[in-house]
This record gives sequence, C-alpha cells and structure tokens, in this order.
Amino acid sequence: MDLFEYQGRDLFERHGLPVLGGGVAETPQEARAIAERLGGKVVVKAQVKVGGRGKAGGVKLADGADEAEARATDILGMDIKGHTVHKVMLAETADIVEEYYFSYLLDRANRTFLCIASVAGGMEIETVAETDPDRVAKVAIDASKGVDEAKAREIVALAKFPADVAEHVVDIAVKLWQAFVAEDATLVEVNPLAKVGDGRVLALDAKVTLDENAGFRHPDHEALEDKSAVDPIEQAAKAKNLNYVKLDGEVGIIGNGAGLVMSTLDVVAYAGESHGGVKPANFLDIGGGASAQVMANGLEIVLGDPAVKSVFVNVFGGITACDAVANGIIQALALLADRGETVTKPLVVRLDGNNAEAGRAILDGANNPLVQRVDTMDGAAARAAELAAAGK
Ligand SMILES: Nc1ncnc2c1ncn2[C@@H]1O[C@H](COP(=O)(O)OP(=O)(O)OP(=O)(O)O)[C@@H](O)[C@H]1O
Ligand SMILES: [Mg+2]
Repeated sequence: MDLFEYQGRDLFERHGLPVLGGGVAETPQEARAIAERLGGKVVVKAQVKVGGRGKAGGVKLADGADEAEARATDILGMDIKGHTVHKVMLAETADIVEEYYFSYLLDRANRTFLCIASVAGGMEIETVAETDPDRVAKVAIDASKGVDEAKAREIVALAKFPADVAEHVVDIAVKLWQAFVAEDATLVEVNPLAKVGDGRVLALDAKVTLDENAGFRHPDHEALEDKSAVDPIEQAAKAKNLNYVKLDGEVGIIGNGAGLVMSTLDVVAYAGESHGGVKPANFLDIGGGASAQVMANGLEIVLGDPAVKSVFVNVFGGITACDAVANGIIQALALLADRGETVTKPLVVRLDGNNAEAGRAILDGANNPLVQRVDTMDGAAARAAELAAAGK
C-alpha cells in the first residue's frame, strides 16, 4: 500500500525523523487555516500517489494565508498524470541549500534490502542513475544486521555526503531504517533530503510503501488506506477474503488456483476476439478446498458486477474433487436465490480433474437452465464469450 506524502510525513515524525510542520486540507478554507497555524510562508503540495508533482505544477509556494488559500484553490481538482487531486498538504517552507536523495527498499531481485543514496537529489533518481551513475550509491543491507551507526557511516562515505552534513545524515539513516523495519515498509524514500540555511538536514518529501502482508501486525495501518480509491467490488471481495481483482471486460471469471485463473483470463480474452472483443471482467481465485459457501460468495461478487454478462467457472479438481465443486455451485445458486439474489446471468462451467465425471453428472442432474456445461477449457471460454457478447 502506497501512502500519501502527508501520511509518510506523519510516519517519519513518529519515528523521530526531522520533518517540517504541516497539515492536510481538502478545501481552500482548511488550507488557509493550516497556513495561519503554520504562520508565514508555506508550500502547498498536491497529494497524489504519483511522482513529478513539482513539474506538473502541483507544488507551489505561498507567502501567507491568502496566497495559500489561492494556491490550494488552483491545485485542488487538478489532474496530475491521471490522478485527481483531492487533498493538499501544507508545510513550512525550507531555505534549501542542497538537495539529496535517500531511500531503503526491498530488493526482490537480489533477495536483500537496499539503500540508495545520492547527493544529487530533488530530481528523479532514475535519471541521475543513467546520466551520473557515479553519484548514486547502492548499498545492500543485511536484514539480520540492519543499519546501525557503523553501517550508516559506510553509506554516507560511499555516497560522498559533504562533511558538514555527515553526522545529520548518519542519524537520519539509522532512524529511517528503524522506521522501515518497525512499520514493515517495502520502500521509504526521501527526495529531497535537504540541507537548509541553518545547517539542519530535513526530509522534505516522503514516499512510503507498506507491506500489506504484514497488515495483521499493524492494526493502525488500515486507517491509512485510501478508501475512495478502492473499487467498491474489490472492497466487498476483500471483506469476504476473496482473491479478486476487477478488470474491464464482460465475462466474469471464477477458478481454483491462481495459475489456472490467469490462463483462463488469457483464453477468454483470445476467444473474445471472435465475439465482438469481449474480455474478462475480473480475476477471482477461490483457491483449493473451496466450500459451497466460498463458491456462493464468489458468485455473489462476480454476479453483482453490472458489467458482467456471463460467468465462466473453471475448476480443475484436485484436493477438492469435482463432485464437491458441482454440489457447491448448485448450493451456491440456491443460497443466492434464498437471499433474494436470483441469478439471471448464464454460467458456463468446466469441470476437469479429480472426480470430473461425478461432478458433471451432478450438474446435469440439477438441470438448471442457466448452467451450461462445456468440458474443455477452450470450448467453455468460447461459449462464455459468445454469451457475454449476446448479453451486451
Ligand atoms: N517545504 C518546502 N520548502 C521549500 N521547497 C520545497 C519544500 N518541499 C518541497 N520543496 C521543493 O519542491 C520540490 C518538489 O517537491 P517534492 O519532492 O515534494 O515533490 P515531487 O512530487 O517529488 O516533485 P518532483 O518529482 O517534481 O520533484 C522539491 O525538490 C523542493 O525543491
Ligand atoms: Mg520528491
């Protein structure tokens, strides 16, 4: 989960990192009030989860409360790379002398953590790495040792931070690592980390990504989620513990096993090319060992998507045999009918693997006019695409 800058700033502050006073506003009036509280000059910054805000005109200085209100009016509602600005952060201004870059991240390719530090900050680090690779230090961090003062000194020396800021940066490097570990982050990035007129070094930007898999250890992280950005169907699926991703097509997909579901998306997209370009409407993996209840939850989510015109249930029986799955589908349809959510969209079911024959016989015996059985994956995909095209 990516955080907004203001959330990252607060997180940094909680971990003792040097940040400037600030606040977040959703209206120009709130922006004015915060500017008044901060007193004097402020910077007004668009809160969107994308870089390059400065260049896009989303970071503006203001001389006082009047101007802060005016700049907030300009920035709120702006579109930055497809992201609408709903909030602005106001912060005290810094008298910037030099801009540096500092980050920790999970380096999956090398199975380690990585520190990237540069004295050429303020701009995109990717650009610096290309044009000026000598000015970008990359230091692997051993997870079991972390970043103590000695390691921080090593980083500061390798990145060639000037002597007058070295002690400040060492302190920041240690605290930032502690924040990274304590919050189960996969990225903490400070760009710019700035030396200011009075000699202090401050974190003027905060980019933080938290590891959602560690969410169970951090009940407080849930409040950081941007509910307005989450697709409502995805949210409902999450509440039911389903592995669901909304896509933009018309064929609802339910399968058991992520690999099978991914290949189902491919065959449906391919079949859809011959049927007016219909596409998969979602990814949904109900996993091995899915009960009738889980199947019902899955069907409810997929059928509840108004874009869905047909559903393809693709199951390869393994630990859960096909007869259990077939019973699950029949019970799920009955369960939905009981809840008053009678199904009207056609379902194409392909069952193969463990006890396939028994499963197919159960489906045939139930004789539900909405359920069509096709025994090959390609055939079922074609049928589901055809039905979706007809329902459009
Ligand atoms: N509190 C501040 N006082 C003065 N200047 C600031 C302050 N915060 C940011 N800036 C200036 O604005 C620039 C852009 O801000 P920031 O890095 O937070 O946004 P960004 O989205 O990363 O923008 P970009 O990608 O264009 O650098 C900084 O590099 C810095 O020069
Ligand atoms: Mg920045």
